[in-house]
Amino acid sequence: MKKIAVIYWSGTGNTEAMAKAVAVGAGADIFSVSEIDIDEALSYDSIAFGCPSMGAEVLEESEFDPFFTVIESKLSDKNVALFGSYGWGDGEWMRDWEVRTRATGANLFEDGLIINETPDSEGIDECIAFGKRFSSL
Ligand SMILES: Cc1cc2nc3c(=O)[nH]c(=O)nc-3n(C[C@H](O)[C@H](O)[C@H](O)COP(=O)(O)O)c2cc1C
Repeated sequence: MKKIAVIYWSGTGNTEAMAKAVAVGAGADIFSVSEIDIDEALSYDSIAFGCPSMGAEVLEESEFDPFFTVIESKLSDKNVALFGSYGWGDGEWMRDWEVRTRATGANLFEDGLIINETPDSEGIDECIAFGKRFSSL
């Protein structure tokens, strides 16, 4: 069986709620980005990364982006899914993140899953289904 991790950053809990639901759907181990190091992350076959849109349409810059910057050169044999919450934007951060992830050679799963602000029960169901599909890759 594939080993799957969900690794996320969340400031106000919205992406965390998504992460928990993705992990349930995928049967994945879940870590906030401060709870896992690069070597442990790379022991997984498949990784779902979650980060909201921050700054101006960028990944969170003090913890998540530095982590992703190190791990991205080592993802070429991994299945990778992306998700996150956003506010007033149009999802530009996720489009940029998809381009960046494809460039690593990773097998990028579907389009990144984005949810506006706090996921409602439909949003949670979407996250669970996304995780389930990711786990059956
Ligand atoms: C400092 C800061 C910058 C943000 N920048 C953006 C942005 O550029 N585009 C956007 O759509 N939302 C932006 N947001 C809104 C967050 O992405 C949104 O509130 C999201 O739900 C936060 O997720 P979290 O609860 O997981 O931290 C920003 C929020 C903060 C606090």
